[in-house]
Amino acid sequence: MNSQKGRETDLLSNPVAAAVLSDQNPETLARRAFIPKQIPTLASPATRLVPQPQYHFSCHSEARNILPDIVDNPVQRIEAGDESSGAEKALNIGVVFSGGPAPGGHNVIAGLYDAAMQVNDQSRIYGFLFGPDGILESKYIQITPELVDQYRNAGGFTMIKTGRTKIDTPGKMDQALKTCLDLKLDALVIIGGDDSNTNAAFLAQHFKDHGIQVIGVPKTIDGDIQVKTDDGELLCATSFGFHSAARAFSRNISNLAADASSDRKYWHVCKVMGRVASHLGLEAALQTHANLSFVGEELADYVDEKRIQAAEAKGTVDYNAYGVTLRHLSRTICDVIVRRAAFGKNHGIMILPEGILEFINEIQVFIIKLNKIIADYNHIHDTDFHAAFPGLNEKLDYLHRLGKGMMDKSAFPIWNDRDDELFNQLPSFFQDGLLVERDLHGNFQFSLVKTEDIVLDLVKEYLDVLKEQGLYKVGIHIDEFTRRLERGGLDAKAFAQAMFQDPRSEYLLVKREIISLKTLKQALVAAGLMTEEDEIPVAAREMFLKSVPNFRTQTHFYGYDGRGGEPTLFDCTYTYNLGLTAFHLIANGATGQMAAVKNLEKGFDHWVPLGIPIARLMHLEERNGKLALVIEKAVVDLEGNAFKAYRAMREEWEGARPGDDAYRKPAPVRFNGETEEDRPITLVLNSL
Ligand code: FBP
Repeated sequence: MNSQKGRETDLLSNPVAAAVLSDQNPETLARRAFIPKQIPTLASPATRLVPQPQYHFSCHSEARNILPDIVDNPVQRIEAGDESSGAEKALNIGVVFSGGPAPGGHNVIAGLYDAAMQVNDQSRIYGFLFGPDGILESKYIQITPELVDQYRNAGGFTMIKTGRTKIDTPGKMDQALKTCLDLKLDALVIIGGDDSNTNAAFLAQHFKDHGIQVIGVPKTIDGDIQVKTDDGELLCATSFGFHSAARAFSRNISNLAADASSDRKYWHVCKVMGRVASHLGLEAALQTHANLSFVGEELADYVDEKRIQAAEAKGTVDYNAYGVTLRHLSRTICDVIVRRAAFGKNHGIMILPEGILEFINEIQVFIIKLNKIIADYNHIHDTDFHAAFPGLNEKLDYLHRLGKGMMDKSAFPIWNDRDDELFNQLPSFFQDGLLVERDLHGNFQFSLVKTEDIVLDLVKEYLDVLKEQGLYKVGIHIDEFTRRLERGGLDAKAFAQAMFQDPRSEYLLVKREIISLKTLKQALVAAGLMTEEDEIPVAAREMFLKSVPNFRTQTHFYGYDGRGGEPTLFDCTYTYNLGLTAFHLIANGATGQMAAVKNLEKGFDHWVPLGIPIARLMHLEERNGKLALVIEKAVVDLEGNAFKAYRAMREEWEGARPGDDAYRKPAPVRFNGETEEDRPITLVLNSL
């Protein structure tokens, strides 16, 4: 035993073993040492804020009522100031991550820290631990230069961790204020998504009289924080983390494309994160040229003209004609599968956005109703719906009683008999999915639902129907058929005539009525190529069996891997400058503003640091069963160039034609060299 221990000690002290077993590899070390470029005005220690009245936002009346002290903030541009104005005072600034990780978060802290130290090295930056809980429970660390250097350009939110707690009640706001006052903070920086930036505005209002400023920073891999003025001027093209996550997903998906086209036996079904909007799915489609991708927003926009005409003829309105149904979605998928198979490609790559169900009308209705039922239950009973009804059967029983009007006797009950009936027709794993626990905002948690299984179940069912109808067949290349039959000593032309729909085409499709060995035999006998007593010739039998499709899938979920990945150069630079921007907004007295960089869609030389009034980005939305003032999520613009380019290319990328597929391999994430991949493709296209 001792000698074994001794040998292990020797092994570990070997310099080569020590090097390869080290926690840090040379690339990681190079990443940590890298300092991203700074927007020139932000390199200056003295700056000033210049209002930009040309950027106009209308204001929701509720925002004016609730956020009166910050609602009239203008958009402000950070410009170089007067450096001779004297020493700047030291500032105490708190910073917190809120929500899911997004690559680049550490660089926001690095930028904030570097700018604060450049102006006055007596300033202090405190990092609240585990997200907003750290503010409520006064758990924090002081950010040191060593800590900043350890995490420069690193993915994750490991330095101070994150959490999803919301500071959204008067009690919690007072608690947060107390922590900030005890720490003598001048300002708080909240790095988060739409809900967290909403929270930042509410805290800015709450802290206003106490002289504590609050600045938000747009974070989320979902890319759904985008800001446009009323005139359509783009002030913030995307949140940070979007590019890195999309690139990570796309690399993986393109590897699967190589697998699919080599082994030719699987459809790889890739669900891509994005709670609601399909920005990540669209970017991944543009990066990889997957055979079949969906943009949820397009499905919501669908109108079934045939149904509308039929209803009009009857003098009625068919509300189900608007928006895609799950059935319709599965039919669309089957159509591509069948058309590709006809060219011998019974394999491919499919991208499903995580939030796709949000855009399917029939599902959306269930989600909204169930959100409200769960929120009402929690509110009325002051307990948790999921704790009260832990199992699916108990939940269904509660819904059933609601449906029967046993609890809700109003004229328009939220859950009626019809809902109950439709809901009961769904497979139980899907019912379970729709009833999953809501997040802290009462949002439906799409990441917990096996969307891909729901869709694939329907696809498989319909493919079986198409197979029985003789419509789903794998095409066989004419050369392969001819060679194989001739090797078997058969007359290839005569057999082709008997077996295939068009015996002269490049890809031969077995006749519709030949759907089994029995029907094949009948066809060959009828053509005089064999008798009833003969066995089907081996070569003809083999070719027929090859034409019978076997739909095999591998499902993949891309989300947590990408949001924990290393930031791209774009995100490293973007986030570092967001940190610098946040500091200069604070140093110039701003509050209730979101730090932003304009012109992200153009090259770095065009970037402009801004403060955007958060209160102006808000509208009313249903949360936890009630209307709440929140930042509006940006969904995919169907009039934008990125979507139009995808729409124009999708037939080509479907690959339902002879020849190889047009897959694209995104370059690896790297730190130097300028390519079109240095920015999200969606941003580049939308800016044209
Ligand atoms: P944020 O909005 O907090 O950035 O999180 C986005 C996200 O990554 C979504 O894409 C995904 O649906 C969700 O978080 C997953 O949440 P969870 O971490 O709770 O599983």
